[in-house]
Amino acid sequence: MALRVINVVGARPNFMKVAPIVRAMRADAGFVPRLVHTGQHYDPSMSRIFFEELDLPAPDLHLGVGSGTHAVQTARTLVAFERVLLAERPDLVLVVGDVNSTLACALAAAKLKIPVAHVEAGLRSRNFAMPEELNRLLTDRLSSYLLTPSADADRNLLAEGHDPARIHRVGNVMIDSLLHHRREAETRSRVLESLGLVARRYAVLTLHRPETVDHPERLAAALRAISQVADLVPVVCPVHPRTRKLFDSSRIDGNLRLLEPLGYFDFIKLMDHALFVLTDSGGIQEETTVLGVPCLTLREETERPITVSEGTNIVVGLDAEQIAAESRKIIRGEGKTGRLPELWDGHTAERIVAVLARKTSAPTGA
Ligand code: UD1
Repeated sequence: MALRVINVVGARPNFMKVAPIVRAMRADAGFVPRLVHTGQHYDPSMSRIFFEELDLPAPDLHLGVGSGTHAVQTARTLVAFERVLLAERPDLVLVVGDVNSTLACALAAAKLKIPVAHVEAGLRSRNFAMPEELNRLLTDRLSSYLLTPSADADRNLLAEGHDPARIHRVGNVMIDSLLHHRREAETRSRVLESLGLVARRYAVLTLHRPETVDHPERLAAALRAISQVADLVPVVCPVHPRTRKLFDSSRIDGNLRLLEPLGYFDFIKLMDHALFVLTDSGGIQEETTVLGVPCLTLREETERPITVSEGTNIVVGLDAEQIAAESRKIIRGEGKTGRLPELWDGHTAERIVAVLARKTSAPTGA
């Protein structure tokens, strides 16, 4: 009997993780994949464009959850997703990453004793002030299949007492999308021409985490650091809707250009040709490692330490002097180089499907 799986997407970083998994499931007669969009992200630039570019099929169901406080957003998703589960009774729910939709859907499924597979399990920042860290920890606790991207994630799960039989190191599925679409992005995107940018003569900035942008003194520190960098090299910054309001109310000097949120192809191409990237995002730390572009992470710690130990990432915090010093090093041609982490090879979705096909014949339950 084919396995009926509900795959969940909710927010922007979910789409590039789920697209290769749905593709692999559709190519396997052993799976009947369905796609549910919670609606956590709803602006076309935060959602629809990714479906088009990633060839993601239109969702079978859209829950229309929208924005709200953490409790409101999580609770609305729980209620709406439970209804879906009661109606459809799938064999498995697959969630990715660490957003509120991930936790809410995992919880709804686990309470109904429907096994949960968590892709990107085991990552830990140990910064419990971040909503994503709570979402990661709790989602892993609720999951029967802990599908990890790297050995550090396996170690974190074992240290927390997870059953080793549930842990499967499959690699980084977001890199499947990056490698699958990199060449297409190169030929189809005109982002450099339209912004008048010259390859390797600009930096890219993204900043949207609540722990950075919702605290006035941390945001002020970030803006001071960015002003210093923008004096050295042009900086372009596609702005998440939550950050836009904050940037609009602050004055930034220097060579910083704010852009609307970009689609996947434009953003990959922009990173691929950048001199370096400054970010507080998680996924971008991984993508820059694979593209071989130096990355300065504007946080105090990372849940993705392999991008530092093996990749091009340096965690610089919000210290303006250190950020400017690292930027100057890169401009002098002394930027960090790295290597590709094991299993970040474009075939993670196939390994995920193989694990689920093998194991779900005898599910362990949550
Ligand atoms: C979410 C994730 C974060 C991820 C980010 C990527 C959680 C806890 N956080 O943060 O881990 O890195 O997505 O983008 O799930 N908004 C819009 N249009 C949209 C979506 C949001 O204008 O399509 C605005 C709304 O004002 C909303 C705010 O952004 O209140 C925050 O959105 P929300 O989904 O709560 O979290 P993100 O900050 O996007």
